[in-house]
Amino acid sequence: MRVKIVAGNWKMNKTASETAALIDEIIKATAGTHVEVVVCPPFTSLKDAAAACTGSHVKLGAQNVHWEVSGAYTGEVSAEMLKELGVTHVIIGHSERRQYFGETDETVNKRTKAALAAGLVPIVCVGETLEERDSGKMDEVIVRQVKLGLTDLDVGKVVIAYEPVWAIGTGRTATPAQAQEAHALIRRTLAEIVGGAIANSVRIQYGGSMKPDNAKELMGQPDIDGGLIGGAALKADSFAAIVNG
Ligand code: PGA
Repeated sequence: MRVKIVAGNWKMNKTASETAALIDEIIKATAGTHVEVVVCPPFTSLKDAAAACTGSHVKLGAQNVHWEVSGAYTGEVSAEMLKELGVTHVIIGHSERRQYFGETDETVNKRTKAALAAGLVPIVCVGETLEERDSGKMDEVIVRQVKLGLTDLDVGKVVIAYEPVWAIGTGRTATPAQAQEAHALIRRTLAEIVGGAIANSVRIQYGGSMKPDNAKELMGQPDIDGGLIGGAALKADSFAAIVNG
């Protein structure tokens, strides 16, 4: 049985001083859940977020991590720096990073390895653009992102987020059938790389306009093990409604 995992990707939202209040509300609103709950605020909020999460069931994630331990990498943050703050999870290869900041399958792989080496749980994002889907390249793109992103590492320790780019922040969600099809493809690809037993243990989240009114059906699909939530994670009531089903 895979434990469901719902993570809030706050993106570039909430200042440090706004963070604790939202986390306090999320802790209260999701009390007693059996779902693994993670919040991923911006780097600048992590310290306050860690204090707010202490002693609660809510875990703390970052939105990126560099592959080196330290050095001349202006603007980057290392896994050790995150760990020291109490971070346990980290989003890697989000489509916004691939689209706007030059993230590639190779850098995703390096970041994922660094996260694992530090004992962080990487949430590795994959997903096709609308153009790739419309031109029949969806399967090829997803398989490539999974295989290259997860090359030569402990796949059993990774969480994957399937996020069709055309569904992110657009209000246009993949149908449960479309999402399930992609998730099943990801799991088959994992089985090819590491065998069925590990593939069946890996949690695959859906992301892309997941909201309280569509989350239950999406998460009810056999290969959908939770959600990576953007917009709806910025309000405790909508985020908790997704967690609580
Ligand atoms: P959204 O974002 O829920 O606002 O579509 C999801 C994500 O980008 O992780």
